[in-house]
Amino acid sequence: MNSELLYEGKAKQIYATEDPEIVIVHYKDDASAYNGIKRAQITNKGVLNNKISSIIYSQLADAGIKTHFIQRLDDRNQLCRKVDVIPIEFIVRNYAAGSMAARLGIEEGTKLPTTIFECCYKNEELDDPIINEHHAVALGLSTYEEMAEVHKIVERINELLIPLFAKLDVILVDFKTEFGRLEDGTLVLSDELSPDTCRLWDVETQDSLDKDRFRRDLGRVGEAYQEILNRLMKL
Ligand code: TMP
Repeated sequence: MNSELLYEGKAKQIYATEDPEIVIVHYKDDASAYNGIKRAQITNKGVLNNKISSIIYSQLADAGIKTHFIQRLDDRNQLCRKVDVIPIEFIVRNYAAGSMAARLGIEEGTKLPTTIFECCYKNEELDDPIINEHHAVALGLSTYEEMAEVHKIVERINELLIPLFAKLDVILVDFKTEFGRLEDGTLVLSDELSPDTCRLWDVETQDSLDKDRFRRDLGRVGEAYQEILNRLMKL
C-alpha cells in the first residue's frame, strides 16, 4: 500500500487517505491472545474478518447504529471514518464464558439471567484491567454521559445481533465492542465485529466458531471463521 501507515495494531493496520477524516483499515492474518503471549498467523483470517465485519456493520447501520464503517474496498481493506478511539473495551455477555466464567466460578455455557456489561481499560502494561464507569471518568477516558450513551448503544447492538446470529443457527455468547468519536464529537461503533471479537457457538453442536479455537488449540480455526461467513452470506 502506498498510503501513510498511521497505526499498526495486532490484527489491523490503519492507513491515511487524501481525506483527513477517512482512513483505510487493513485486516491482517496475525492472531494473538492472552495479551500477546500467544501469537500465530491464520491463513486468510484477515480476508474472512474483513468480509464478516463488513456484513455485520452494514446490518447494524441499516438498523440505525452509527458506525465508523463506510464500505469494504477489497479482500483486506475497508474505508472507515477516522475516529478518536476511546481506550475502553465494552463487553456484553449473554452466557457465562471465558474470563467471567473463570473469575466468578460459573460453569461455561450457563445462560445469564441478565445481560452482563463489562468495561476493560485498554492498557497492555496493566493487562487490560476490568473497570467501571467511575474509573473511566477518574482516568479521564470518558464522561458519565458518554458511558451511559455507550451502554445504551451496546445494549441495542446486542438486541440486534442475537436474532441475526440466531438466523445462522449460532448462539451469541458474548462479544467485545469499541467506540470512537468523529471530528464533530459523534460517538460511533469502531473496530470490528467478527469471530475474533465474539464468542459464537453452533446451536446444534455447541462447537466454538470463533477465536476460542485458536486460544484453546481446538484446531480448524480458519474453517470456523469461513463457516460463519458462509452462513452470513446466505442471509
Ligand atoms: P473474555 O471472556 O476473555 O473476557 O472475552 C469476552 C469477549 O470479548 C469474547 O467474545 C472475546 C472478546 N475479547 C476481545 O475481542 N478482545 C480482547 O482483548 C478480550 C480480552 C476479549
